[in-house]
Amino acid sequence: EHPEQIPGYTYGTDAASDAPLTMEELDRLKEAVWLTADDEQALREAAGILADQADDMVTAYRARLHEQPWLAPYSGHPDGTPNPEYGAASKPRFDRWIIDACTRPLDQDWLNYQYEIGLRHTKAKKNKTDNADSADQIPLRYLLSFTAVVIATARDYLGAKGASAEQVDRMHSAFTKSVMLHVTVWTRAYVDPANW
Ligand code: HEM
Repeated sequence: EHPEQIPGYTYGTDAASDAPLTMEELDRLKEAVWLTADDEQALREAAGILADQADDMVTAYRARLHEQPWLAPYSGHPDGTPNPEYGAASKPRFDRWIIDACTRPLDQDWLNYQYEIGLRHTKAKKNKTDNADSADQIPLRYLLSFTAVVIATARDYLGAKGASAEQVDRMHSAFTKSVMLHVTVWTRAYVDPANW
């Protein structure tokens, strides 16, 4: 889907929150996860492989989340019943994130939208974009632990289009670093700045 057709996807617009982080902090985090120029090239290659699989990836993530009943309040209604409208509304943005994570330059727009995604997992902005009535914050411990699922499951998708094992390793390593960088920036919306 074209970004401009995704409701609530405010990447690169004034509607995205201004991140309280500097480009220098971002550059240092990029060093910390060791995202190299070769990784950025590998991510561009991964984008081509993942583009038409992103929707399936998010479907699989959600299936895994739905296997854990204690997570139901975060995507369902307060009485525990499912909220398919909320799921359908947020899914194209999640799909888009997979491609963005492989293609977007790490500039101020990137920083602002990652901060925005962090906020959308917290009391500050969760539910607001889609006018949902779910629990108002994804606990940080689940955001972090689910990162393992996003990373580990990516390998098969990266290997699904005939790339060599060596190529898949290279793309998977780069994707791992990219996901960790994203989720690390998202945690800024949760954590006391003095501890971040
Ligand atoms: C929204 C990714 C963990 C529930 C989103 C979006 C992305 C995303 C990209 C769309 C943001 C936007 O553009 O609006 C991820 C990733 C995770 C993670 C990569 C782990 C590494 C979780 C967990 C849960 C969850 C553990 C549930 C327990 C949601 C919900 C929304 C959302 C309910 C909609 C938020 C809103 O109201 O705007 N997530 N997420 N996420 N995610 Fe996550």
